[in-house]
Amino acid sequence: MKLGTLFLPFCLLPSLYHALAIQPNRRPRSQVWVQTFATPKGNKLDLLELLNRDTRVTHIYLAAVHLNDPPGNISLNDAPPEDPRYDYIWPQIKALQRSGVKVLILLGGAAQGSYQRLSGSDEQFEAYYLPLLDMIRRYSIDGIDLDIEEGVDISVPLRLLRRLDADLGSEFILTMAPVASAMFPKPWAVGLSGFDYNDLDKLAVSSTRPSGKLVDWYNCQFYNNWGDASDLKYYNAIAMVGKWDPSRIVMGILDNPGNGGSGFVSHKRLTEVIRQLRTNYPTFGGVIGWEYFNAGSADGFSEPWQWVRGISKALYDPYNPRRINLSTPPFQELNSSSPWPSNLSTLVGEGAGYFNAVKALNMTNGDLEQSEKLLFH
Ligand SMILES: *[C@@H]1O[C@H](CO)[C@@H](O)[C@H](O)[C@H]1NC(C)=O
Ligand SMILES: *[C@@H]1O[C@H](CO)[C@@H](O)[C@H](O)[C@H]1NC(C)=O
Ligand SMILES: *[C@@H]1O[C@H](CO)[C@@H](O)[C@H](O)[C@H]1NC(C)=O
Ligand SMILES: *[C@@H]1O[C@H](CO)[C@@H](O)[C@H](O)[C@H]1NC(C)=O
Ligand SMILES: *[C@@H]1O[C@H](CO)[C@@H](O)[C@H](O)[C@H]1NC(C)=O
Repeated sequence: MKLGTLFLPFCLLPSLYHALAIQPNRRPRSQVWVQTFATPKGNKLDLLELLNRDTRVTHIYLAAVHLNDPPGNISLNDAPPEDPRYDYIWPQIKALQRSGVKVLILLGGAAQGSYQRLSGSDEQFEAYYLPLLDMIRRYSIDGIDLDIEEGVDISVPLRLLRRLDADLGSEFILTMAPVASAMFPKPWAVGLSGFDYNDLDKLAVSSTRPSGKLVDWYNCQFYNNWGDASDLKYYNAIAMVGKWDPSRIVMGILDNPGNGGSGFVSHKRLTEVIRQLRTNYPTFGGVIGWEYFNAGSADGFSEPWQWVRGISKALYDPYNPRRINLSTPPFQELNSSSPWPSNLSTLVGEGAGYFNAVKALNMTNGDLEQSEKLLFH
C-alpha cells in the first residue's frame, strides 16, 4: 500500500462508510471464539443473546475441536460434540445461522496433537480427516479456523486447506489463527506453527475464492506478547511492512485479562484503536475476542454480549476520523534477532516481551539459558 492512499479516508469516509455498509462482505468482522459453554456462575451459556441483544456479531467460533486417538475420536473441549452437554447448543447455532451469523469451529489451539495426527502418509491423513469432514457436514458448520500451536511442516496446513476446499467448496470459510508476530515479514516472523505464513499464503492459492487465496482471512493473536492491541504498531507492521491485505487481517484480542497470560486491553482503549484502524485501513478485517463467556467483566460489563455490542459499535458506527498513526515496531533494531529464531520463539512463548527477548539474546549471543536469567531473574 502506498503511503498516499492512507490519507484518502479523511475525505472519502462518509461515502466509504456507506459503500461498506451496503456490501456486507466488505465490512469488518465482529467475532468471538466460544470455548467455555457456561456462564461465570456455572449456568448454561445462552448464545441466543448474541442475536437478541443487537450485538451485530458476524462470526462465532466453537473452540476447540481436537482430533484424538484412535481416528474418529473427535472432541469439542473435553467431550465428543454429540455429548448431551452440548444438546442445547446445536439448536441455538441453527438459529444463529438462520439469522445470517456464520458458525465455525476452531481446530487445535493450546492442546497439541491434532495437527501431528494430520501429518504423515495419505492413509493416516484420511483416517483422521474423514471423520472431521463428517462432523462438519453433520452439524452444517460454516467454516474452520486452523489454530496451529505445534511445530508442523508447511505441507500439513496446505494439504488440509486443499482438501477442505475440494470437499466443501469455496463458500466454506477457511481461516487460520496465527500469533500476530508470525505475520511479520522475514526475517522477523516468529510464531508457534513451525512454518512461515508468508510462504504458506503464497502456496495456498485458489481460483474460486476471494483474493485468489485458500485462506479467507487470518485471526491473529495480538496478546500473550505476540502482539499488542493497545497500539497500532503491530497491525501497521503486518499491513504496511508485511504487505498483507488488511481485509484479511483480523485483530485477535483478549476480552478478559483472565483469558490469557498478558496483553489485555480495556474496552475503552480498544474502541480508540479500532477507530484509528478504520481510518488507516478502510478495508480493516475486524476483531475477534478470546473468549466469549466472561467477556468484558473487567470493563464493568455484567453480560458478555455487552462487550461484543460495544466492539461492533466501534467497528460500524460513524465516528470522527482519528489521527492516522503509522508507527511500527523498530524493525531495524531487530535485524539482530534473526540469528536465533528458535531461542527467540521459546523466550516469547515463556512470556517474555518480544523486544526484550530480542535484546536479551543479543546481549547473551543467543544463549537461551542466560537470556532466561536476564528476563525472569
Ligand atoms: C478419545 O480421546 C480422549 C482424549 O485423548 C480419551 O480420553 C478417550 O479415552 C478416547 N476415547 C477412546 C474411545 O479411545
Ligand atoms: C502512535 O504510536 C506511538 C508509538 O507506538 C504511540 O506512542 C502514540 O501514542 C500513538 N498515537 C496515538 C494517537 O495513538
Ligand atoms: C534489516 O534486514 C532487512 C531484511 O534482511 C534488510 O532489508 C534491511 O536493510 C536491514 N536493515 C538494516 C538496518 O540492517
Ligand atoms: C544487537 O547487538 C548489535 C551489536 O552486536 C547492535 O548493533 C544492535 O543494536 C543490538 N540490537 C538490539 C535490539 O539491542
Ligand atoms: C539457544 O541457546 C542454547 C543455550 O541455552 C544454545 O546451546 C543454542 O546454541 C542456542 N541456539 C542458537 C541457534 O544459537
